[in-house]
Amino acid sequence: MVRLLISITVLTLLILTFSFVSEVRSTKFKIVNKCRHTIWPGILTGANRPVLYPTGFVLNSGKSRTLSVPRAWSGRLWARTLCALDSGGKLSCASADCGSGKVQCAGSGAIPPATLAEFTLNGDQGLDFYDVSLVDGYNLPMLVVARGGKGGGCSSTGCLVDLNRACPAGMRVARANGSEIVACKSACEAFGDPMYCCSENYNTPDTCQPSIYSTFFKHACPRSYSYAYDDKTSTFTCAGADYIIIFCPAPFTSQKLLGRRREAAELPLVNKTMMYIGRHHLSG
Ligand SMILES: *[C@@H]1O[C@H](CO)[C@@H](O)[C@H](O)[C@H]1NC(C)=O
Ligand SMILES: *[C@@H]1O[C@H](CO)[C@@H](O)[C@H](O)[C@H]1NC(C)=O
Repeated sequence: MVRLLISITVLTLLILTFSFVSEVRSTKFKIVNKCRHTIWPGILTGANRPVLYPTGFVLNSGKSRTLSVPRAWSGRLWARTLCALDSGGKLSCASADCGSGKVQCAGSGAIPPATLAEFTLNGDQGLDFYDVSLVDGYNLPMLVVARGGKGGGCSSTGCLVDLNRACPAGMRVARANGSEIVACKSACEAFGDPMYCCSENYNTPDTCQPSIYSTFFKHACPRSYSYAYDDKTSTFTCAGADYIIIFCPAPFTSQKLLGRRREAAELPLVNKTMMYIGRHHLSG
């Protein structure tokens, strides 16, 4: 009887310890602004998931902010640019606005075009799934680095090229006074063709093929999602990691940083050829 009691006590203690450890271990996102200008990161939590706060904040150039992310969180992050209060006192941004009129997005997602970092933490087999997506277009370069992971490939992903300068005609989004290209639309948004949107007759991986536009994005940013079914080379996994999400990373510095890491990804993070391709690409 005494032995049984001791076993039960030990077992209870073990269970308590384990649940304590798993509760304490929370993923961290370190969000870094390496842009020369202020950005306004936005965060949207997926349906039926614990909300990650804040849902938006201001991040000055050169600054970072670390957030503790709820277990099993799923959602997306992006950054608004060139935000200012309008005459009515509402915050309005030149790219990736969430339409809330405030610093907090409060459940509103980015209005495309926006470069998106997408996460599903503690998913299948305890793995985190993450990607950087250009499916909703592009507004600024982004890099996601997994740190301290213990399983999965844990490769870095992102889009390190300035696609605004290289954006094909017909897909560019300029600032209201036309002074600057602030974002680049996806072909789906720019032309609305089901063939580019993977909708209607093109709504399966077999029928929706890469287009010349998605291929342009893919060549510039080989690990990013370039169209809706670009899963194979664009989704990454890691277990038990923290993530650094860098806006406007320096492309070559990042490559040096990543050169020392074991990278499981099939494609390179940076296409050296594309780094030098400017506005002439696809425009002639
Ligand atoms: C365009 O608008 C921005 C912000 O209002 C301003 O800073 C910039 O100088 C303007 N550019 C031109 C060419 O008017
Ligand atoms: C790099 O860009 C060039 C030129 O667009 C392209 O031919 C090549 O396939 C790209 N490489 C990768 C890995 O995407």
